[in-house]
Amino acid sequence: MASPNHAVTEAAVSALPSAVNSMALSLNENPFAPLPSVRSALISAIDAGNRYPEFLPERLRALIADHIGVSADQVVIGVGATGVIMQVLSALTSPGDRIVMTYPTFDGYPIFAQMARLESVTVPLDKHGHHDLDAMADAAANAEVVVVCRPHNPTGTVESSADIERFLDSVPSDTVVLLDEAYVEFLSPHHRIDTPALIARYPNVVAVRTFSKAYGLAGLRVGYGFCAPELARRMWTMQLPFGIAITGLVAVAASYDAESELQQRIRMITAERRYLRMRLRAMGVYSTDAHANFVYLPSWGRQWREVFEGTELQVRGYADGGVRITVGSRQSTRAVLDAVAAAL
Ligand SMILES: Cc1ncc(COP(=O)(O)O)c(C=O)c1O
Repeated sequence: MASPNHAVTEAAVSALPSAVNSMALSLNENPFAPLPSVRSALISAIDAGNRYPEFLPERLRALIADHIGVSADQVVIGVGATGVIMQVLSALTSPGDRIVMTYPTFDGYPIFAQMARLESVTVPLDKHGHHDLDAMADAAANAEVVVVCRPHNPTGTVESSADIERFLDSVPSDTVVLLDEAYVEFLSPHHRIDTPALIARYPNVVAVRTFSKAYGLAGLRVGYGFCAPELARRMWTMQLPFGIAITGLVAVAASYDAESELQQRIRMITAERRYLRMRLRAMGVYSTDAHANFVYLPSWGRQWREVFEGTELQVRGYADGGVRITVGSRQSTRAVLDAVAAAL
């Protein structure tokens, strides 16, 4: 018979989400389990779990800075992109300040705004799921922070490089532009922008990225931000001592070493997204022009959420009736298409 302690452990282990689950399409996670090389590096890190990580994550920031082509003093590290965004808000705003965001947007933003005691100003997306950058620039004139997600969550849309630059030119230079690039690795080469060059030209831009999505390490909680050294210095003052688990540095290093395998996974996900959108289109179902690891079906007169309710699929429904569906395996795609076909 298992000892009581063993039973508690078993319960905790069995409560872990399963790494591969074709029905889990609500959080934009990566559908693949960690790569074997990343997994074995992580086990080595866990073997040193009795030791503290670095006081401040200097090695991790240097590794990331080197990888993306900026200097280390331009990078901050967070507990996921979530931690970085909170660091931006804690270091650069005061309670009562305004933050501009779209509606809908990544669910975290209204929560982070509330945690930082900011006043949220929301600007609706257009009917194809794009930012209204002119309206956002107008709102930014009276705000301390404005958030642009590229690709956007939940619609997956991407604003062009020219539109982003025009927007940056019209935002006051003392308003912080949070350029959320959580899904940047899914962009095809012709949609990429040179973000390190952009932050060199616009010292009020903070780019935020994560290892939760394309890198498939959501459970390890590592994200980073990068910007002009002056702004990064102010944010680094909020870097939590011993705040990044000892697994962080090895997970990132092993992921960079496994870049070609990860690129292959990214190609599989984006190919599956194209297939899912194509099949939806063939059924007469409109989805926005998505460039990340999810598709978005805007409201169609009834709640899309209801279409998936009787199924095992977990998807993310929105109050206006739209739904966001993470791209998974071909099995996930079939389950989504079956549910949609049954509803039409
Ligand atoms: C646009 C966007 N930003 C930030 C995040 C936060 O990611 P994490 O905290 O896991 O790094 C997410 C997660 O879904 C997201 O969609």
